[in-house]
Amino acid sequence: MLDKKVSDFIKKSFRKGNIVCLTGAGVSGESGIPTFRGKNGLWESYDPEVYATMEGLISIFRADPQKLVDFVSDFYTVLLNARPNPAHISLAALEKTGFLNATITQNIDNLHQAAGTRSVIELHGNSFRIRCVGCQRKISLEKDRVKEMLKLLEKNRDSRIKLLKVLSRYCPRCSNCGSRYRIDIVFFGETLPQDELVRAYKILDNCEVFLVVGSSLVIYPAAALPLYAKERGAQLVEINTEPSALTDMCNCSIIGKAGEILPEIVSFLSI
Ligand code: OAD
Ligand code: ZN
Repeated sequence: MLDKKVSDFIKKSFRKGNIVCLTGAGVSGESGIPTFRGKNGLWESYDPEVYATMEGLISIFRADPQKLVDFVSDFYTVLLNARPNPAHISLAALEKTGFLNATITQNIDNLHQAAGTRSVIELHGNSFRIRCVGCQRKISLEKDRVKEMLKLLEKNRDSRIKLLKVLSRYCPRCSNCGSRYRIDIVFFGETLPQDELVRAYKILDNCEVFLVVGSSLVIYPAAALPLYAKERGAQLVEINTEPSALTDMCNCSIIGKAGEILPEIVSFLSI
């Protein structure tokens, strides 16, 4: 149950059209996708210096291609099995009823869209999309294609040449400019998609309540967005299972699971 202080705050400040949300890995935790940091976080099993950089992945492929196959398979199997949880569904409901203007996400799992949210700003890309490194043209990488790719990687795991052929098939040359496609996610050290970042700042200009859900808020520039919103007069509300880097600055910090708190907020607002 939301405590009285929280429900009073929501009653006073949540109005149609005045909320923008920022989500992090915690919003997808209840869909079975591990978070990056914290207990059982992805970065406990895979060193981000290696697995979250293009150079690192290429060096693994050179040194031990089977390791790359294992990683790609682990990475996509989790994403393929994940379904939107009550947190994603509640955010979609808040948008549908006009409370939520947009959902800015650091996640690459496509679960906000799968839950029905229309206005999604993806700061770190989407793992079910590829992007041309030359002209930046984007095309979606459907789940069935990913499944097919995993099967072929598994089948050819003993041959570096064959693996390269498989990877090239799913990241082909661009018919527009001749450059190669790559997965459309932001690796460590890469710049964020500027158009998405501009959209995020723009939507925050008219935001009265900035709701941050399931993010440790230690990665920039996403971590700077709440400060930007606060400077422009927004109230900061956070939902997280533990205090984050933002907690001290929040007008309202709700400790709890996103998949439990958000449905309560939706029903509290009598949607
Ligand atoms: P983190 O893994 O850093 O943080 C997840 C947060 O979610 C933590 O603060 C948890 O306490 C909280 N959490 C876990 N389960 C929750 C639940 N059920 N309900 C609510 N909160 C929960 O993930 P992000 O902040 O998203 O970047 O990380 C930001 C970026 O760092 C990622 O996008 C990724 C990573 O390196 C790139 O890959 C570029
Ligand atoms: Zn191109």
